[in-house]
Amino acid sequence: MSPETHAEAAAPASIESLLARRTGWGRSDAVSRILAAAAAPGVLSMAGGIPAPDSFPVARLAEATDRLFAGSAVRALQYAPTDGIAPMREVIAARASATGAPVGPDRVMVTAGSQQGLDLVAQTLIDEGDEVALDDPSYLGAVQVFRRAGARLLPVPGDADGMRTDVLEQRLLAGARPKLVYVVPHFHNPTGAVLSEERRRHLAALAERFGFLVVEDDPYGDLAFEGSRLPSTDVHSGRVVRLMSLSKTVCPGLRVAGLVAPAELIGELVAAKQCGDLQTNTFGQYLLADLLGDPEFLPAHLAGLRTLYGGRARAMETLLRERLPWLEFERPRGGLFFWCRLTDSRVGSDALYAHALAQGVAIVPGTPFCIEEDGSRVLRLSFASLDDAQRREGVSRLATAWEKALADGP
Ligand SMILES: Cc1ncc(COP(=O)(O)O)c(C=O)c1O
Repeated sequence: MSPETHAEAAAPASIESLLARRTGWGRSDAVSRILAAAAAPGVLSMAGGIPAPDSFPVARLAEATDRLFAGSAVRALQYAPTDGIAPMREVIAARASATGAPVGPDRVMVTAGSQQGLDLVAQTLIDEGDEVALDDPSYLGAVQVFRRAGARLLPVPGDADGMRTDVLEQRLLAGARPKLVYVVPHFHNPTGAVLSEERRRHLAALAERFGFLVVEDDPYGDLAFEGSRLPSTDVHSGRVVRLMSLSKTVCPGLRVAGLVAPAELIGELVAAKQCGDLQTNTFGQYLLADLLGDPEFLPAHLAGLRTLYGGRARAMETLLRERLPWLEFERPRGGLFFWCRLTDSRVGSDALYAHALAQGVAIVPGTPFCIEEDGSRVLRLSFASLDDAQRREGVSRLATAWEKALADGP
C-alpha cells in the first residue's frame, strides 16, 4: 500500500479539529447569549450600548445622499483607497486635532468601526504571550480582541478618575512589560469613569519611559452631560493610537470610524486592513465626510445628543433611586450607562439578570466585563435607547424581578 492510499484510508479529521487555536481564546458565548436575549420580542433592553434611534440624523443623511447622487454617484460606488477617501481622512484629522495633538490626514485611517481599529492594532502588535494592560472591568469587545490575539491580559484597577496609573506604574516597576495599554478615556464602558488630566499625563510619561503604546478608544468623549471633554493623551506623548468611533455620535450602521496612529505604525495598520477587507465602505465615507465637513453640523448635533442623553440619564436616576433602592451607583457624567452595585447580599447580578429576563427586561451582569475583579455584585444598565414609557416599564419590571429573586433565595 502506498503512503497516499494509507493516508486516504484513515478517518478524516473532524471539522472542529481543523480550527486554529486562537478561535478558542477570545470567545465569549455569555455576551452573545445576553445580547440575543435582549433582542427577543417584547424584551425592553437596558443591555447593549445601543444609541437612541431617534438621535440619528436621518434627514441630514438623506440630504447628503441626494447630493451625492445628484453629482457623480459613481465615485461613491467604486473601490476606494485602503486608508480611506481623502475628504473623510481630512475631517477625521481636523476632529482629532481639535480634541488632541495636531495631526494631518497622512496619519489617519478610516476603519469599519473602532472595533476593527482595535482588531487591526492587536493583529499588528500582539504576538502570542505579549502583555496588554487594561482597566478591570473593561469593554468586552476589547477583551475579546486582545484574548484572541493571544495576549496575556494585565488587569489594572480603576476608580472614578479612570485607570489607577499608580498601580500600573508599580506593575511596570515590578517587571511587567505590556506592549499596549488600553483605555476608554471618557465615560468608560462599563464604569462611566473619566481618565483624569493628571492620570493622562502620568500614563503618557509611563509610555515614554517604558516604551508601550497607549490605545485610546473614545466613542463617548462627545457625550458629556456637563462640562467638556479632556484633551487626548496624545498631547503628552506621541506613543498613542486614537480610535475615534462615530457610532454613538452619528450612527453605528454605516460602520465608519477614524483611527489616528504614529507615523511608524500607520503603514502596517493599513497593510493589515488590506488583508481583511481592502477598504471601508465608500458610500458611507462620502456621506459622513459630507456631514462632518459641514461646520454647522457637528456642534448642533452633539448639543442635541447631550440634551437627549442627559435628560434620559436624569430620568433614569430618579426612577432608580425611587424604585430600586438596593442599587448603588455614581451619577453618570456622560456616555450611555449606569454601572451599579447590588447592596443587598441576598441576590447576585447573575440571578437578577435571569429574573429580569423572565420579566421582560434585559440588563448585563458584571462578570463578562471583569478580568480579575469580582463581577458577581455589579451590573450595567443602559438608559440610552428607551423612551419615557419604556424606561418606567423597564424599571418596574426590574423591581418585580428583584422581588422574585429575593423570594427564590440565594
Ligand atoms: C469602548 C468601546 N469601543 C468600541 C466600541 C465599538 O465601536 P464601533 O461601533 O465604532 O465599532 C464600543 C461599542 O459599544 C465601545 O463601547
